[in-house]
Parts: sequence; C-alpha cells; structure tokens
Amino acid sequence: MTMNTPEKRQEILSAFEHRHATKAFDPSKKISAEDWETILEAARLSPSSFGYEPWSFLLIESPQVKEELKEFAWGAINSLNGASHFIIALARKNVTADSSHVKHMVEDVFGLPFSADAPQTQMFKQFQVKDFDLNSERALFDWASKQTYIPLANMMTTAALLKIDSCPIEGFNRSELETYLSKKGLLDTTEFGVSYMLGLGYRTKEIPLKKRQTTDEILTVVE
Ligand SMILES: Cc1cc2nc3c(=O)[nH]c(=O)nc-3n(C[C@H](O)[C@H](O)[C@H](O)COP(=O)(O)O)c2cc1C
Repeated sequence: MTMNTPEKRQEILSAFEHRHATKAFDPSKKISAEDWETILEAARLSPSSFGYEPWSFLLIESPQVKEELKEFAWGAINSLNGASHFIIALARKNVTADSSHVKHMVEDVFGLPFSADAPQTQMFKQFQVKDFDLNSERALFDWASKQTYIPLANMMTTAALLKIDSCPIEGFNRSELETYLSKKGLLDTTEFGVSYMLGLGYRTKEIPLKKRQTTDEILTVVE
C-alpha cells in the first residue's frame, strides 16, 4: 500500500516542468540563506560510488572573479551576469584504493580502520581496474566527474521545488579555466579538475514549452 497522494506526485512533476535552463536571471533577486542551505544539503547528501564523494564545490562570490570567468566560460555569461549564486563543481583526480582521499573517507568520515589489504579496499581496486577499466588518469577523472552530476541534478531539483531557477553549464574551455583558477590559488590541479558550473537564481521571463522525446522512445521494458 502506498501513502503517496496525487497532490504529492503533481508537486514533484510540476517542479520538473518548471525547471528550465535559465538564460536570463534577475540580478536583483537573491536566494535566501535558508533556501541556499537546503540546496547545499541536497548536494552534500548525494550518493557516490563506494561513498567516496569525489567532489568539491567553489561558490564564486567575488565580482572580479565572475567578470574574469567570462573569458573562458561562454556558456556561463548569463549566469555570471544575473544569478544569485554561482558554483564551479570540481571532480577529484586519482581516487584509487591507495589514495589519501580514500583513506580519509574510510577513517575520518566512515570511522573505520583503513588497510590496503582489507576486503573492501581490494573490492574497490578490482572494481576500478577490472570491472570499469579505470586504468588511466583520464578515465579516473571522468568517472569522478560523472558522479559530480548527481549533486548537480539534486541541486537543480531541490531548487526547482523551492521555485528557484538554475542553469547547468558545460560551456567553458576546461584547460584555460583550470589554468586561470590554479593561478588564482582556487584550484590544485594535482587534486581536482573542473566538472561543470551551475548558476542559481530567479528567471526574468516565462519559459517556452519543453521539448522532450516520449517515454516510448527512451524506455525499453524487458519482460
Ligand atoms: C551538462 C549540461 C551542460 C549544459 N551547458 C549549458 C551551457 O553551457 N549554457 C547554457 O546556457 N545551457 C547549458 N545547458 C542547458 C541545456 O541546453 C538545457 O538543459 C536543454 O536544452 C534542455 O532544456 P531545459 O533544461 O530548459 O529543459 C546544459 C545542460 C546540461 C545538462
């Protein structure tokens, strides 16, 4: 038996219909501290492979940095001009069984002893090396980067439920951006690379109707 109501379902679907990649933000409207904390919690509580959370987020408040970012981030200009909050999501590099990050997660976050020979460590190694073929720096970065898109979706959906608009952004030159952030002391390129950006705020105008494939086109039921 389900306790869900038609109203609850409608609230969820309305949020998804309301969410749209916002091209023009109203610079005079700011997200409240409480709403912002809720959005950040949605990111922080997101799931990740083995629970290793291979991510970090820069919240860019500096007007100077926002201005300078425009040079490398053509897809972010609208957000940089008007969004209340602007995030750059970073993905961790080289999250392997013998990395200091995995040790930190296991010991400090999970509160467990870490050992290179523990079954959990060996399983993770086997998963990365054999099952998922994560045998290059690029493959490892892309695997971490994929996971950063889970907090992205959760932040956008949470925002939409709170009637806050957003725009996910991949419109930037990654290597130029990373060089810039590193020169500014905002990015340690041995530890992280840029995954995406996200603008959040309030739209200035109503949105066109969504265009999507039908469920039939994207779903195959295997009976
Ligand atoms: C990973 C990703 C990257 C995107 N990059 C940009 C971008 O750089 N600039 C932009 O204005 N929109 C960007 N978009 C927005 C998409 O164009 C938009 O989500 C898509 O056209 C569907 O429209 P809707 O989100 O309004 O429903 C991006 C979306 C995603 C998911």
